[in-house]
Amino acid sequence: MTDRYAVIGNPISHSKSPLIHGAFAQQTAQDIAYTALEGPLDGFAGAVHAFRDAGGRGMNVTAPFKLQAFTLATDRLERAELAGATNALKFEGDRIWADNFDGVGLVNDIQRNLGVALVGKRVLLLGAGGAVRGALLPFLAEQPAALVIANRTAEKATALAAAFSGRGRITGCGFGDLAGERFDVVLNATSASLKAELPAVPASVFTGAVLAYELVYGKGLTPFLRLAQNAGVPRLADGVGMLVEQAAEAFVWWRGVRPETAPVIARMTVPLV
Ligand code: ATR
Repeated sequence: MTDRYAVIGNPISHSKSPLIHGAFAQQTAQDIAYTALEGPLDGFAGAVHAFRDAGGRGMNVTAPFKLQAFTLATDRLERAELAGATNALKFEGDRIWADNFDGVGLVNDIQRNLGVALVGKRVLLLGAGGAVRGALLPFLAEQPAALVIANRTAEKATALAAAFSGRGRITGCGFGDLAGERFDVVLNATSASLKAELPAVPASVFTGAVLAYELVYGKGLTPFLRLAQNAGVPRLADGVGMLVEQAAEAFVWWRGVRPETAPVIARMTVPLV
């Protein structure tokens, strides 16, 4: 019998997950069906239980349900526990397992696909929301020389850094504190690009940087990437690789088979112009 999976969010029509998992299933000859479900804003838990009770084996979870999915789970893996949010569920009998593959997907894209090793590097992460929280543990595991979280609301960044301080060299600050600081890798994990806005960081953070990474995908050259380009950063990337890599981790978790990500990323990449 065909095993069923789905991505749940609201809205959901824009989701590329069915396309990605469909490509993985075809490539690895796994007999699965993967669909997109619009979860009711006031009925997330009911929709998940209904999908599970109808034979569903697992789900990806996207906005605005990542925190509710975390609460709903009966068992949480450490990455999800520390992120306080989940983007993947696995159903086993009565148990609902939760993990979070966003951060590991991002780190895999940077290191494997873009060829930038993070060990010993100075890394700047802009933002202090869910996207950043999920990324911190996988980043610290690569032992960067420094991981700096900078946020428009500085207190959120300092609180987040304090919560992870036992895990590596991490500090938090406001955008204004970045004057005169330099980094090897700069990532934009704020939601500013969704509104075509620019996080108010000094252009000097890009001096000598090897990579600027925009977590949003498919928006072309966002104001952040344009600033990085004008500052001479040689490598620019958006989040398409992160999206495919997190999907691959979920696929392995569910199916025990690792798909090849490169052909799927190539198919989905929109040129940064
Ligand atoms: P997500 O789950 O995608 O991280 P979020 O939790 O709503 O979304 O967080 C959004 C992040 O983008 C926050 O860090 C927010 O900064 P504040 O904490 O100061 O609100 C940041 N953000 C949103 N719009 C921004 C803008 N125009 N400039 C800079 N930062 C912005």
